[in-house]
Amino acid sequence: MKAIPIAKDIWWVGAIDWNAKHFHGHTFTTKRGTTYNAYLIIDEKITLIDTAYAPFTEEMFERIKTVVPVEKIDTIIANHVEPDHSGALPALLKLCPKAKVYGTARCGQGLYRYYHQKIDFQEVKTGDRLSLGKRTLQFIEIPMIHWPDSMMTYLVEDQILFSNDAFGQHYATSQRFDDEVPQEALMEETAKYYANILWPFSHLIAQRLEEIEKMKIPIKMIATAHGLSWRKDPAKIIAAYKRWSSNATEPKIVVVYETMWGSTAKMAEKIVEGIADAGVPYELFDIAESDRTEAITEMFGAKGYIVGSSNHDSGILPNMTAFMEFLKGLHPKNRIGCAFGSYGWSGVAIQSLQSTLAASGVEIVQPALSVQYAPDETQLKQCYEYGKKFAELVKKN
Ligand code: FEO
Repeated sequence: MKAIPIAKDIWWVGAIDWNAKHFHGHTFTTKRGTTYNAYLIIDEKITLIDTAYAPFTEEMFERIKTVVPVEKIDTIIANHVEPDHSGALPALLKLCPKAKVYGTARCGQGLYRYYHQKIDFQEVKTGDRLSLGKRTLQFIEIPMIHWPDSMMTYLVEDQILFSNDAFGQHYATSQRFDDEVPQEALMEETAKYYANILWPFSHLIAQRLEEIEKMKIPIKMIATAHGLSWRKDPAKIIAAYKRWSSNATEPKIVVVYETMWGSTAKMAEKIVEGIADAGVPYELFDIAESDRTEAITEMFGAKGYIVGSSNHDSGILPNMTAFMEFLKGLHPKNRIGCAFGSYGWSGVAIQSLQSTLAASGVEIVQPALSVQYAPDETQLKQCYEYGKKFAELVKKN
């Protein structure tokens, strides 16, 4: 496994996790795998920007060794403390005990709390610069994109922005650049990453993008910490982030439900029939059988959410409970929604499903619709009208 040049004397020395199926525990499905990107700069200071997830330490070392002995690294930039980027640091510091690590104050604290060892750590702030010899690094704090410690590092002379998690994707490929892979897959994975990880921080992302814009730094390449880097048109992904962070939506409805004996599923099918007849595009997910990461990605751009579940004990079904908890953490803004479902002897849980949707930040625009046991023809007609009316509201909003 070799280092891959990305510019003169600058190398990608990360690792490709072809088999990753999940990320952040099991909160994110990585159907295309992922990469942990680390970058080596050969100058008077031999510098490594970020490392890799600990199980991929040897792969990273192997790539570094094709350029320079690992022991020669004397400068390490820790853009982010999360273990997918810092996991290889303890092993690296064993080989390079004199190396100095640079990062934000919170990164320094976080590294200590993760690895419980003394590190020669230098705190940096936005605007601080570090000369590597012929080249200069400039640091840009980006707190909460997506952890408090996060930062980007800008390589002044080469105009490369090492952006860490921002602008990245979970996309394992032997290619390293945006122009080398199908654009549709690239944007799909980038949007999926934003929707499932960065969405709740959108207002901060909008601010940080503005701050970076005000710095007026020319950006020839964005070198990400996951997946592909952007060299063909870095402005394209910055524009996409601006759009996404504005919470803009399109007239589209996502219906997510879980069913016990099929009654809630029948309701869902009639609801989407009504939506379709109102001329609004929709997506339908039975969450017990669907991928949550995909459902959230569809919800990311949609104006309307309809959630449904059968009543179960005193609550709703467990896959839907987990889904609602995840959605609540994403704090969707500027969306409208409602809830539906079937019950046996108490419809309270359907009301509480609607309240949970409201608690996530979604504006409730019509009362919850519930049916005892199984919907009859009249109730199926009500479901149809429920979907149609909601679709009309989505068109108006
Ligand atoms: Fe890729 Fe926030 O770690």
